[in-house]
Amino acid sequence: MPELRPSLAIPGQIQPGSWQHHPSGLQRTIPTEQRDWYDTALYYDIVFDDGTRQEADFLEAAYARYAVGNGRRLLEPACGSERLALKMARRGWEVSGFDGNAHMIAFANERMASARLKARLWEDWMQSFELPKGVKGSFDMAHCLLSTFKDLHSEKDAAECLRRVAARLRKGGIFFLGLHLTDYEAGKQEHERWVARRGSIGVICNTHTWPADRPKRLESLRTRLQNTDAGRKHFQETHWQFRTYNAAQLKTFLRKVPELEFLQCYDFTYDIEEPRQLDDSYADVLLVLCRR
Ligand SMILES: C[S@@+](CC[C@H](N)C(=O)[O-])C[C@H]1O[C@@H](n2cnc3c(N)ncnc32)[C@H](O)[C@@H]1O
Repeated sequence: MPELRPSLAIPGQIQPGSWQHHPSGLQRTIPTEQRDWYDTALYYDIVFDDGTRQEADFLEAAYARYAVGNGRRLLEPACGSERLALKMARRGWEVSGFDGNAHMIAFANERMASARLKARLWEDWMQSFELPKGVKGSFDMAHCLLSTFKDLHSEKDAAECLRRVAARLRKGGIFFLGLHLTDYEAGKQEHERWVARRGSIGVICNTHTWPADRPKRLESLRTRLQNTDAGRKHFQETHWQFRTYNAAQLKTFLRKVPELEFLQCYDFTYDIEEPRQLDDSYADVLLVLCRR
């Protein structure tokens, strides 16, 4: 079984807190837990909840515009907490999805059940997934957003994932692939910060991305979460790597999987009336790929 993130720190490992000077005297800092933040599905879900409706609206509008034929069977590789799949299931899509992280699948199953919705969810890997027994036929739509595809570090795994998705789509079906392009010339750290709340739980998420290693086609990231629940604070930190693509590398890569035809490009504003060129003038690309 392939490793999800070979670069991750040992899950659950705690870095000791330290003593720091404070005007009121020496104070102990709260220790930071080193773990895969996808193990804490609830915090992930809270942080990314915000854009979910907009993404679902876009997927439906773009499917209506670009798919040949219709049908409402949906496959989500690396579905995570199912924030998006839940929304699509509520809109009448028949959802199947898988993820390499067992915590995500457990969380997603629980949530689907409490919403009294049905979805077929299982643990699997993007680069080697198989449909479970009982999931038959082909899909009308598949999607993989939020740079998740960049978790596949080698070209072999990335191409294998695309081929497997293509093999499961019906002719004329659509695969939406969203990822951030890398500017190899930028040479500086990027920083993104999200602040979100659900009920008594607050999450502050800071993600740093370091300049890419161009020959290795890898960039290093660190996500720090500050979680507050009913006044209690918890810190956790994850280090991982993404495979990098610029526009030319992405175009070259897509040619390796001719089963999928590149139809159109958008960005993460998810505005169906604003298609974009696939080039390096912006970072967040959303590809519309059609099964030939
Ligand atoms: C950024 S989240 C995206 C989740 C979901 N698709 C969404 O839009 O909210 C990335 C997910 O990919 C999963 N993942 C990463 N690498 C994977 C792999 N090789 N195979 C399957 N799942 C993977 C992680 O466990 C995590 O749940």
